[in-house]
Amino acid sequence: MEILPQHVSIIMDGNGRWARARGKERVFGHLEGVESVRACLEEAATLGIKYLSLYAFSEENWNRPQAEVSTLMELMMKSMKNEFSNMMKNNIRFVVLGNRSRLSEGLNAAIDKMMEDTAANNRTTIIVFLSYSGKWDIMQAMKKAAAELSPEAFQALGPEDFDNYLVTAGIPDPDLLIRTSGELRISNYLLWQSAYTEFYFTDVLWPDFRKEQFRQAIEEYGRRDRRYGKVK
Ligand code: FPP
Repeated sequence: MEILPQHVSIIMDGNGRWARARGKERVFGHLEGVESVRACLEEAATLGIKYLSLYAFSEENWNRPQAEVSTLMELMMKSMKNEFSNMMKNNIRFVVLGNRSRLSEGLNAAIDKMMEDTAANNRTTIIVFLSYSGKWDIMQAMKKAAAELSPEAFQALGPEDFDNYLVTAGIPDPDLLIRTSGELRISNYLLWQSAYTEFYFTDVLWPDFRKEQFRQAIEEYGRRDRRYGKVK
């Protein structure tokens, strides 16, 4: 493939609708969605994509029915345990970013362990955004910067300096953002970081988004002309 994105991010949408269309509970859609996560991660690693990030749970998602929230958290826990040996075998680094203070102690401990154990892996990094929202990230960065810096240094902050206070510090901005299920919005995701990201929208529901669909998105990215506001 000619032009490969370094960082591909995905808003995984449509699990509920996928399940409902089959007369099943929404949770079946999430379960199938985990298979799509595995497929896309495998394909990203095969292609040599360095970062794959996934919007797994937004700050707003806490307002879903309690049963669905618990199911999603349990699924997260289970998937981490199931995938651990696979990640080690395939040299995948695992990172979770978001408002960790809202996650349970047990889940936080499991996430810390998984992040520590995979920290030295360097083929592909999978970033799971959990309890994340773009506005929350910008707010926490602003507060951290204000607490750390003198008023003069705070006033002198530039965009590149501010990057270092976001939870994504050190991670390149996404080159390509995919959203499945036909919704055409950013839903409070990587607001700051997606300033020059290429967007790719597809009607395919997340449980149906597998290797072939992932590859199509990457190929489409290769045809884009990125100008960053300049004239070429
Ligand atoms: C969107 O579909 C999907 C989610 C909010 C959850 C995504 C979570 C997973 C695929 C599983 C866990 C993730 C990992 C990384 C193992 P929706 O429920 O909004 O569907 P709808 O729009 O059709 O209602």
